[in-house]
Amino acid sequence: MSKELFRRVLQCNHCNSGNLNFSKAIFKCRLKPEGEISCKKCETTMPFVNGVLIAGKANWTKNQKRNAYVYSDFWERSDKAIKYQRVTHEDELLDTLRKEFKEGVLMDAGCGSGRHLRHWIQDNVKANSFVMVDISDSIFQCRKYYEEINCTKPVIFIQSSISNMPIKGQTISSTWTSGVVGLLEDQKSAVREICRVSNKTFHLGVLTEKTIVGKLYITANLVKPFLNKVKNMKLLFMLSGLMARGAILMLKLLHFLKLPLAFIRKEHLKNIINDPNAISRLQHSLYDPIIIPKIIKYPDLKYIEWAEKYGFILKAQKTEIICDYFHFYKK
Ligand SMILES: C[S@@+](CC[C@H](N)C(=O)[O-])C[C@H]1O[C@@H](n2cnc3c(N)ncnc32)[C@H](O)[C@@H]1O
Ligand SMILES: [Zn+2]
Repeated sequence: MSKELFRRVLQCNHCNSGNLNFSKAIFKCRLKPEGEISCKKCETTMPFVNGVLIAGKANWTKNQKRNAYVYSDFWERSDKAIKYQRVTHEDELLDTLRKEFKEGVLMDAGCGSGRHLRHWIQDNVKANSFVMVDISDSIFQCRKYYEEINCTKPVIFIQSSISNMPIKGQTISSTWTSGVVGLLEDQKSAVREICRVSNKTFHLGVLTEKTIVGKLYITANLVKPFLNKVKNMKLLFMLSGLMARGAILMLKLLHFLKLPLAFIRKEHLKNIINDPNAISRLQHSLYDPIIIPKIIKYPDLKYIEWAEKYGFILKAQKTEIICDYFHFYKK
């Protein structure tokens, strides 16, 4: 744990002053700082709880509190296999994408329990330090996981909304945020906040309605009120497996009958039919939305327009099984 990284990156999330008091912060244990950091200007304090810096909790909106609650519960109930071992289309994407991350600080905004750390710690990731942010208690699991995988790079764990982070402007070289912005009521503010702190690249993953799986994912919103009542995660996983099997079977049938369907892109249908892991991928994808809050997806152009407004340009865009991935870079 590097005190230097804290000094370089943090600011007060109340008045935005970079003039912080570290005299009550103890950095004896590398991955578990204690005490608190306070603002010399407005005296707001950010305490460390189990090595995680807690920021802005008292001011979270109803939507933020709900996300924090639902995801704390979700990650708490999920076992290690679900948290860290499941492989999704995103992992395949990151196998190549991660090489594009720049030297400096890599931020995972809405990191959950740290699923993507397995990518961030690879040799071909140039980042030399990390900032992991999440609003839910999963951030405590993320910190623990970081310890378990013996990563030695300096890191800051923050429990905060990505819409208002205690991070100085332009201190983050690469930002990755996937499956998070779509959960927020004010997505534009979240994009603005990410652009404010980022100085080179910004990868944004949001659910897409362009693919069949994306559509199914969104449709899963309909059954959520019922499935939310199922508290047993194994049963939930089984139910999402059944739904996935049913959906893939239906798609195979549609493919076989060669019905011209306006809402299905031919190449996406073919990809899914030919994917030997289609069922488990869909199962994993469905498993999340069953229990998470409403997802709102804006047209692609909106995300691009917002990023441009806040100083970033679209370099590439890719539609994967379930998400649109936008790769922005600083103008
Ligand atoms: C679908 S999960 C994605 C987690 C991770 N990015 C992954 O791909 O495994 C969404 C995460 O966003 C977090 N989240 C939701 N609203 C947030 C907010 N306003 N600020 C920060 N994190 C938030 C949740 O706590 C949850 O861990
Ligand atoms: Zn302040």
